[in-house]
Amino acid sequence: MRKEDPPQKLRHDSHTAACAMYSWRASGYELQLAPYEFIRRMAINHLALRPGQCVLDLGCGTGMSFPLLREAVGPSGRVVAVDQSPEMLALARLRCERAGWDNVALQCAAAEEALLPRKADAALLHFTHDILQSPQAVDHLLRHLRPGARIVATGLKWTAPALAPWNALVGFYMAQSVTHYDGLRSPWLPLSQRGAQLEVDALVMGTIFVAHGTWPGRRPAQPLEERLQPQWPQPGN
Ligand SMILES: C[S@@+](CC[C@H](N)C(=O)[O-])C[C@H]1O[C@@H](n2cnc3c(N)ncnc32)[C@H](O)[C@@H]1O
Repeated sequence: MRKEDPPQKLRHDSHTAACAMYSWRASGYELQLAPYEFIRRMAINHLALRPGQCVLDLGCGTGMSFPLLREAVGPSGRVVAVDQSPEMLALARLRCERAGWDNVALQCAAAEEALLPRKADAALLHFTHDILQSPQAVDHLLRHLRPGARIVATGLKWTAPALAPWNALVGFYMAQSVTHYDGLRSPWLPLSQRGAQLEVDALVMGTIFVAHGTWPGRRPAQPLEERLQPQWPQPGN
């Protein structure tokens, strides 16, 4: 075990807590997310998918991204979707069965240990803070992307301290969605520090980020801690 790996029990507890949270949220989840669908469309556009490609949807939830992902990769492409919540994934499965899709592979597993294709063309992490902040999950993901693969990660983040009321809203939504608030200043850093080349757009007064870019296929030589220290966003970003 490396120094930064949390003890097995702690990891197990955070997965159990997250599953309990989404077991409770699953039935009303799609209604709650409806106002934010423009961010999903923006995120999937940034993936720049082409027909025939294989895209990973980590923390796929109820499968709300599937229609757009499928449309982009076409019938010859593949969507590999992973979620650890049985209740969320059951709704994703229902969505696929109802639509008769046979190129969406669903897996009920933790992102840290899911069976992923050898080298996928793209990965989407849409509002999946717990996955993005898990070193094991990010390492596992990057091992399964081809050089040049597109990566898009989105979610909530703290905005500038001067916009305190907006941060209260972020805290409110996060409390229902994640098991910890670590990394909320710059949630994309675990990807950037490993060498993903990302641009970051800030939306809704800086409370939402859309990080998009590519995975060059190898990590930087420089030690992780020395790279890309978190920055406060500018007010209004
Ligand atoms: C806020 S939902 C986002 C769902 C989906 N991406 C969407 O856009 O609607 C976060 C999802 O991530 C899943 N999740 C959280 N931690 C996970 C992990 N370590 N491995 C797999 N799934 C995880 C949760 O079960 C939940 O379904």
